[in-house]
Amino acid sequence: MGDSRPIGIFDSGIGGLTVASAIARKMPNERLVYFGDTAHLPYGEKSASAIRDYSERIFHFLKEKNCKAIVIACNSASAVATQRVKKLAGKDIPVINVIDPTSKHVANLYQNEKVGLIATKATVNSRIYAKRIGKLNESLKVTMLATPLLVGMIEEGYFNNNISQAIINDYLSRSNLKGIRALILGCTHFPLIKNEVASFYKGSVDVIDSTEIVAQYTANVLKKRNLLHSGTPRNHHFYVSDLTPSFGKSTKIFFGKELKLEKKSLKA
Ligand code: DGL
Repeated sequence: MGDSRPIGIFDSGIGGLTVASAIARKMPNERLVYFGDTAHLPYGEKSASAIRDYSERIFHFLKEKNCKAIVIACNSASAVATQRVKKLAGKDIPVINVIDPTSKHVANLYQNEKVGLIATKATVNSRIYAKRIGKLNESLKVTMLATPLLVGMIEEGYFNNNISQAIINDYLSRSNLKGIRALILGCTHFPLIKNEVASFYKGSVDVIDSTEIVAQYTANVLKKRNLLHSGTPRNHHFYVSDLTPSFGKSTKIFFGKELKLEKKSLKA
């Protein structure tokens, strides 16, 4: 039967559902407890200290829900709050972020290449991808571009159309992304524009979507720690700190089906 406690997953909002969906597909026996901090999004525009405080509150909530592992399904929170969450979690609760597995994947895959990253301002300003990848593989050069318009655009349902393609093309034409061999989609909203990014490059650049990489990494960590569940799966729970009808509707685009969201305000 294994360990029936849930996996806790959090993001600034509903974008992290792309990661939750990949984890649910990879480990169908696991129960998920998801928290989207919709009252405070976008994290990408917030200070590092605010993101750390929000992440701390969410961690306590997920711990109360008896989560056996925590996945930080947000690049902005992964960039600035991983250490804080790991410290709170201690040794017994593994904390997985989206940046480390993706950095490892990229560092193993390429040599002497330029790798691009598009992400929120918080993630780009932290320079975390450049630091992580540079430490693992000195031959790689990481070049970064903050693309703040893309999160709001995707949440409004603007993707796979002429307007979104024009905005994406404009960002990807910027000079600091010239000559890249691969582009990391450094935001959990961006798997939804993967096809548009790929169509801009027409096969000349690998587009790296971290959702599957993180799901596989999470499965490996749970297996190694003997935390996998093999019994009948129970229902997932999806909480948000602010609930509007549009969040409910958007769950379909991020998770593949419309979800029932429960509102939960977290106290400071
Ligand atoms: N999903 C968040 C990330 O991966 C971006 C959204 C936000 O800025 O809140 O960074």
